[in-house]
Amino acid sequence: MTDTTTATPQDTHIDLTEQEREADLNIHELKRLVGLVDYDESKDPFPVTGWDAIVFVVGNATQAAQYYQNVWGMELVGYSGPENGNRDHKAFVLKSGSIRFVLKGAVSPDSPLIAHHALHGDGVVDISLEVPDVDKCIAQAKAAGARVVLEPETVSDEYGSVRIGAIATYGETRHTLVQRTVDGQTYAGPYLPGYDAKVSTFVKRDGAPKRLFQALDHIVGNVELGKMDEWVSFYNRVMGFVNMAEFIGDDIATDYSALMSKVVANGNHRVKFPLNEPAIAKKKSQIDEYLEFYKGPGAQHLALATNDILRTVDELRKEGVEFLDTPDAYYDDPEMRARIGEVRVPIEELKARKILVDRDEDGYLLQIFTKPLGDRPTVFFEIIERHGSLGFGKGNFKALFESIEREQDKRGNL
Ligand SMILES: [Fe+2]
Repeated sequence: MTDTTTATPQDTHIDLTEQEREADLNIHELKRLVGLVDYDESKDPFPVTGWDAIVFVVGNATQAAQYYQNVWGMELVGYSGPENGNRDHKAFVLKSGSIRFVLKGAVSPDSPLIAHHALHGDGVVDISLEVPDVDKCIAQAKAAGARVVLEPETVSDEYGSVRIGAIATYGETRHTLVQRTVDGQTYAGPYLPGYDAKVSTFVKRDGAPKRLFQALDHIVGNVELGKMDEWVSFYNRVMGFVNMAEFIGDDIATDYSALMSKVVANGNHRVKFPLNEPAIAKKKSQIDEYLEFYKGPGAQHLALATNDILRTVDELRKEGVEFLDTPDAYYDDPEMRARIGEVRVPIEELKARKILVDRDEDGYLLQIFTKPLGDRPTVFFEIIERHGSLGFGKGNFKALFESIEREQDKRGNL
């Protein structure tokens, strides 16, 4: 594979999504940011354009919406709640670049979100995908044996119509499929029917960057021991996803903790799902800890793509975001330095910020992981800056897991 940064517009048959256009991103940038590739959608039984939204259920959406604006630099664009007739819950729609997060918190004591939150804590309930043809996808999903949780239906409001359906994936997570162009008309509202445009009173401090991340690169799913291959097969069979890099066994084992991981992606690689299962080791793996505290399979981390990880990390640290520590030994190891070679900044700059670096035959990537975002040791974020590499930081797994284990040990879960 060649360095994608040299690709010219003639190389591509991919169109920008509405969200990417609004975020002023271009194909060239997206190829570098998230490893977008060309593919022929006409042969795909389940064409997926890209991410539509990541929907979180949280204990307090009102406060979480503040957090994602203040700390993560996201912009509030939409809202649904008691003020516009939704008496069940409040939902805040936030954007950063081409990605949209929706935060939902129960208002009514009878809301089904309460039971979900009681069981799982804060987490991702819906990895919603934009598709050009919901009916085609749902028909394919049914034929391939998936569980359909919402039959295709058209929903409308004053901004127009969308057609949506949904299928179940691991645990209590679902994929809502959203078709934003119905009968030639593209929906013009801030998110989905039922949501109003909302502008925040929050004002960014002077000098704050426009945004801290431009896109979503991948979402990792944690599943039970022995279930990883079943879910890989689900994504292959039901959604036509292709297999990417594969990591097994020793690659990502420490003395105590181990996991197995395989990666599937949609045709254009906008949507990438590494799937992890725990592997047998001397002590409890980080995946077991997740499964125990999330009470089952679920989304483990979201990788946020940035074109300036140094700035992003500096800004996040100023706001109090805590990252996993990396021992100085990682940066001082001559073997590691030889493997990494030249990257865009001196290694000392990475060492000062504890940013990890990995290289493969296609290029390199810079990455760092936050500590868990909520009260339970479950969901966290990764910040990733790709330079040609389409990998996931395989070379860093061991260094990283040793760091995760130190945190696990502090919580008494190792
Ligand atoms: Fe990752």
